[in-house]
Amino acid sequence: MGIRSKPVKIIHDCDPGHDDAVAILMAAVHPAIDLQAVTVVAGNQTLEKTVRNALNICSASGRFSDIPVAAGMSRPMVREQVVAGDIHGESGLDGPVFDEPDVGLDPRHAVDLIIDLLLDSDDPITIVPTGPLTNIGMAIRKEPDIVEKIERIVLMGGAYQHGNVTPSAEFNIYADPEAAHVVFTCGRPIVMMGLDVTRKALATPAMIARVRSLGNPQAILFAEMMEFFAKSQKEVFGWESPPLHDPTCMAWLIDPECFTTRLMRVEVELRGALTYGRTSCDVFGLEQQAGPGRELYEGGGPLARPSGPNAHVAVDVDFDRFWSVVYDSFAFYG
Ligand code: BDR
Ligand code: CA
Repeated sequence: MGIRSKPVKIIHDCDPGHDDAVAILMAAVHPAIDLQAVTVVAGNQTLEKTVRNALNICSASGRFSDIPVAAGMSRPMVREQVVAGDIHGESGLDGPVFDEPDVGLDPRHAVDLIIDLLLDSDDPITIVPTGPLTNIGMAIRKEPDIVEKIERIVLMGGAYQHGNVTPSAEFNIYADPEAAHVVFTCGRPIVMMGLDVTRKALATPAMIARVRSLGNPQAILFAEMMEFFAKSQKEVFGWESPPLHDPTCMAWLIDPECFTTRLMRVEVELRGALTYGRTSCDVFGLEQQAGPGRELYEGGGPLARPSGPNAHVAVDVDFDRFWSVVYDSFAFYG
């Protein structure tokens, strides 16, 4: 298939965040994406900080004269708030210095903007969450009629292997597991970019230098952000190069062949003391198997759960192809 010829209409829901910022810059400029709005949620930092970072990035892109940016939920649905200051710094986007933003906030709450855009649109819209799923879960609960207007949900979150905030859980899901449950059970197609692939989408020094060599202000901003991100990821995880999590969603939208995905059942753990916020991914299709010893999983037993695959989970990434998409996106800035 290669690069999409018809632009995909999206709403990007995010918590910038260095990697969210790169995702915004890609979505704002790539012709394969028709960005309808940026909606902001608390996550990597408090809402006040993620909103300021979003406005700074949208201003820096120079593409937001008629794309609304709205502030959303400042707290998760049920759990206590967690932030990721260790990775993204005190501001949520430490590193670059910004001028005063020239993009302002839409007066609507992000949840209402999401609802309005979906209900008013003639075509379905793809939702692209790259932060905790609070805004999207709330929008679905507040106005269930939006669900049929969602084309699909392409999200960064979860893992079928190891977590990054607990051994079991990934940050975006852990930060609001109840909202994630609403999203994963909403019935619309889901593409899940989890840590399993984002940990292979590394911003190596060579890739950072390649984008920086474009020389435009957005490419230089990318490189400045990656320098801070590389340092914090090295301190916390020991990675030599930071995983560029959130831009994988934009890369999938632009060129799905960057990734290999597998359809499987994904459920969010809401009760486990050690596994709260884990995405339980049925990689082997165990729920679909019948036979001796599996009776408990079939209808009504204590372990019975709703069944059937609900998510295309990314299991591999073509590193060079992914970086071509990132590079080409920044090249559109001239
Ligand atoms: C996710 O958590 C955040 O820190 C990043 O922005 C990304 O969305 C990775 O676990
Ligand atoms: Ca994020």
